Amino acid sequence: PAIEYELEAPFSVEYHDSVANTNELARERAVDGATNLAVLADEQTGGRGRLEREWSSPPGGVWVSLVTRPAIAPSQAPLYTLAAAVSATRVAREAGVDARIKWPNDVVIPEGEDGDYRKLAGVLTEMEGETDRIEWLVVGIGINANVDADVLPEEATSVREEAGDVDRRRFVQRLIEEFDRLRGTVDEIVPAWRELTLTLGQRVRVDRPAGEVVGEAVNVTESGALVVETEDGRETVSAGDCEHLRPV
Ligand code: BTN
Repeated sequence: PAIEYELEAPFSVEYHDSVANTNELARERAVDGATNLAVLADEQTGGRGRLEREWSSPPGGVWVSLVTRPAIAPSQAPLYTLAAAVSATRVAREAGVDARIKWPNDVVIPEGEDGDYRKLAGVLTEMEGETDRIEWLVVGIGINANVDADVLPEEATSVREEAGDVDRRRFVQRLIEEFDRLRGTVDEIVPAWRELTLTLGQRVRVDRPAGEVVGEAVNVTESGALVVETEDGRETVSAGDCEHLRPV
């Protein structure tokens, strides 16, 4: 019931018990002119991750898509993805979970000493617009909140598993507040991301369509691309090109 999610948030909330996919619904709302709208579901039956991957979305998770119409160029959109990852990481940490960000926008829990991790949350951003201006942006955030880890993919974990259940209404409220604050202070997004990441300083392998890049992750650019120091010099990999990143 929609009333259950009347939040004191800077976004209005459209709540569903079960939908195919909140990003798709948010997209429809965006096309109809909506803004500052959060489409939220208890369960998704057709959840999608980056690169058309399946995104397991059982009841109890936080599956939410934020519709905004920021006055930015499409090249700046990855910043909003980073902002969503920062927001999700912060609220997960408030819930007592040792969440960190794996570039570009995975929220993970480190496991062991060898740079391994389990995935807790992810972000999928979609947009429409001209080359110089965005019409609308849909930022989809999926957080494995009150879900048993054994119904999730092997490499995933949940807040329930790591720290116990959260009050989802408060959790979503805080998530939206953090995102709203960051989008108002765009200069703070990359510094906030840097503080929470485990990727910088790691030796990594990034798979991308143009081939793999291996080296030390040394920086993130203003638009959220990763700078890797390879044997042949520095390579910059944009978030959209990253098919896979793993510590090596
Ligand atoms: C990823 O890590 O690949 C991104 C996962 C994004 C999942 C969220 S859940 C809400 C929205 N609806 C979807 O189907 N995907 C995004």
